[in-house]
Amino acid sequence: MSSKTFYIETFGCQMNVHDSEKVVGTLIRQGYEPVATPEQAHLVLYNTCSIRDKAEQKVFNRLQQFKRDAGRGKVFGVLGCVAQQEGERIFERAPHVSLVAGSASYAQLPQLLVQIEAGNRRVTGLSLETDEAFETDFTRRDNPHRAYITIIEGCDKSCAYCVVPFTRGPERSRASASIMAEARVLAEQGFTEIQLLGQNVNSYRDPSPAGWDFATLLARVGEVDGIRRVRFTTSHPRDFTKEIVDAISANPVLCNQVHLPVQSGSSRVLECMDRLYTRDEYMRRIEWLKASPRNIALSTDIIVGFPGETEADFAQTLDLIDQVEYDSMFSFKYSPRPNTAALTFEDAIPEDEKQRRLLIVQERQRAIQIRRNAARIGNVEEVLVEGRNHALGQWIGRTSQNQTLNFTHPDTDASLIGRYLPVLVTRAGPNSLAGESPVM
Ligand code: SAH
Ligand code: SF4
Ligand code: F3S
Repeated sequence: MSSKTFYIETFGCQMNVHDSEKVVGTLIRQGYEPVATPEQAHLVLYNTCSIRDKAEQKVFNRLQQFKRDAGRGKVFGVLGCVAQQEGERIFERAPHVSLVAGSASYAQLPQLLVQIEAGNRRVTGLSLETDEAFETDFTRRDNPHRAYITIIEGCDKSCAYCVVPFTRGPERSRASASIMAEARVLAEQGFTEIQLLGQNVNSYRDPSPAGWDFATLLARVGEVDGIRRVRFTTSHPRDFTKEIVDAISANPVLCNQVHLPVQSGSSRVLECMDRLYTRDEYMRRIEWLKASPRNIALSTDIIVGFPGETEADFAQTLDLIDQVEYDSMFSFKYSPRPNTAALTFEDAIPEDEKQRRLLIVQERQRAIQIRRNAARIGNVEEVLVEGRNHALGQWIGRTSQNQTLNFTHPDTDASLIGRYLPVLVTRAGPNSLAGESPVM
């Protein structure tokens, strides 16, 4: 086994997925060769997520699985949010791990790798003291058509349930000129879709004298020649401005899709969560979005069973879901997390009650999606072709609203992947649409 082969598995959000693209590029630059399985690799890396307990457990399960391979020339590394949160405790829980590094330390990866190559068994990168977001020219993007760009790292909010401020550190925005330069290079390389990333993407504040806010940056990225779609995630409701909606209304390159996590429909719970907005303030933003002529698809995140959430609070969440009619939703049972304020809150909701509330929310949302998707039958929608489902004999496309639209097309062998095509929607399910192309 060559000593310079590596395998990386990524858990968690798009920020982590993109971080892994940067890490892979950095490793290749250092002379490492990617291999297809952990068995083949000398260096096995896990880029981890700590947002809920279940996510955190995944990495420890993986490490357990490969325990017997340590000492047989394999080296294990834990990156990302669990690494930052647990730090050197990881060496105790999994003694065969040699590298522990959080996302704020990736700029030091080349040096950390040199230490590992020298046989060092306890190498760490755990400082959060950086005022920059990690950037590299060597990013290995997984998708040849859609490219992620980090515009802001970290989080300065302090939601009572959330580990992110502890795992990713304070907020730091990239200079607008550097973001624009990256967008132009990506367009020249043939990417047609750009996704701007940040834990709170719309809290972006240009540190350079240009001083752009997020809406300005979004509008400018939408003007880059060759870019046909721009998305962004995740938006914090408190920093979500009318100018963002105006930018989307003005330019069809900016996708008609916004993810705006609400967490709860009860202002009382929102206050306990320290979300910095009330239900009414959130609904005002939804009204701006609904007033846009672009027919903007809305999605959200919901937490059920936050400590002290009463039946009345929960009923308000259901009522908000009915009022907004989201196009899609991620819903979670509250999971107590290390370091967070909510750990000390009283009136924990029992697990079976959280489960009951989760199922109710999901059922409610499913009915809304069935109804909303059915209403789109007969529409012609443009998709970016992402792949082919050979078993079903269908192409897989994605609409500007970020919905999967599977479709038939007479071309089956010549690759349509990466093209933009109009598709007639003929069928709809709760989670996807189906259709036909070309449209007669
Ligand atoms: N920055 C984004 C959220 C990022 S985390 C925002 O502020 O909206 C993604 C989602 O995970 C959150 O929106 C929340 O719904 C969920 N989440 C975070 N911490 C959680 C916890 N302790 N238990 C359950 N869900 C949680
Ligand atoms: Fe977590 Fe809140 Fe920051 Fe989002 S805004 S990452 S939920 S602390
Ligand atoms: Fe998870 Fe870290 Fe993202 S905790 S959700 S990988 S920021």
